[in-house]
Amino acid sequence: MKAIICTKYGAPEVLEIHEIAQPVPKDNEVLIKIHATTVTSGDVTIRAAKGPVLYRLPMRIILGFTRPRQPVLGTELSGVVEAVGKNVTRYEKGDPVFAFNGMRLGAYAEYICLPEDGMISIKPSNVSYEEAAAVLFGGTTALHFFRKGNIRPGLKVLIFGASGASGSSAVQIAKHYGTEVTGVCSTANVELVKSLGADDVMDYKKEDFTESGKKYDIIFDAVGKISKSRCKKALAQDGVFLTVNGQGIVKERVEDVTFIKKLMEAGELKAVIDRAYPMEQVREAHRYVDQRHKKGNVVLKMI
Ligand SMILES: NC(=O)c1ccc[n+]([C@@H]2O[C@H](COP(=O)([O-])OP(=O)(O)OC[C@H]3O[C@@H](n4cnc5c(N)ncnc54)[C@H](OP(=O)(O)O)[C@@H]3O)[C@@H](O)[C@H]2O)c1
Repeated sequence: MKAIICTKYGAPEVLEIHEIAQPVPKDNEVLIKIHATTVTSGDVTIRAAKGPVLYRLPMRIILGFTRPRQPVLGTELSGVVEAVGKNVTRYEKGDPVFAFNGMRLGAYAEYICLPEDGMISIKPSNVSYEEAAAVLFGGTTALHFFRKGNIRPGLKVLIFGASGASGSSAVQIAKHYGTEVTGVCSTANVELVKSLGADDVMDYKKEDFTESGKKYDIIFDAVGKISKSRCKKALAQDGVFLTVNGQGIVKERVEDVTFIKKLMEAGELKAVIDRAYPMEQVREAHRYVDQRHKKGNVVLKMI
């Protein structure tokens, strides 16, 4: 099968399309023919492996010293079940599915094997393969942090970086929980964030939300760009500051995939897709995501 291989750490040119062996499902696994995956902030961070030594060293101990031990990047995907292992009961050949493989990666390929009890579900019936591939990275991140923040109806929630993968899901999921949502983004994304259901949108290029005099029960920094100390003035008494940067990694929960499927089918959660590239243009896709200003998600079409 064809797969995009990260041959070493560096610029997008380190990504090459190679022929590698197609995986064979174990007894408890399904083999999926991948239709779409995404280029996430996580993928470009692994590929580039930049940053201060104190950050780079532990990262390379975990991921591999000179190149990622798992050279096929890609955390999320959608596709069709091509074959199943002999003990699989939940899926059969031909089922449309979507899945999150997290740091095990492997979605930049024509096929992947996943355990049937992993973060996989039948694809939401009302969305395309591209949309289904572009919702679990951001959606599971938002759910994880909102659970930490004990989100509940009536709270005032501010989402900083409301136009990214995590931010665009967070706005919609916070609305699902019956909260009053303020999204913070740049001028170019104000209309997008409004369209996702935010009650109020602040343009960080024109206004500093910490100086607005308004208070929030939850401030969720969905891009890891602000500190708790900076937000202090805007936090209500007992308010909670949540950030994707420095508060641990997102816990994988199978239930989150089925929950996200239900939200999509109910029309409460839509995947925001900025651009979609054929797999052959993976370097261009990485170059774009490297700029760190994508709107929602960037899709890689694998067929
Ligand atoms: N802890 C975890 O387990 C975990 C899980 C998932 C993600 N993360 C981390 O979360 C971060 C965000 O991930 P993501 O993929 O959701 O983001 P993303 O999609 O890459 O975010 C892109 C968005 O960030 C906004 N942005 C860029 N610079 C900004 C700034 N200075 N101030 C405000 N907004 C800014 C951009 O909006 P504008 O163009 O409007 O500026 C853009 O729409 C990454 O660093 C990722 O590694 C951590």
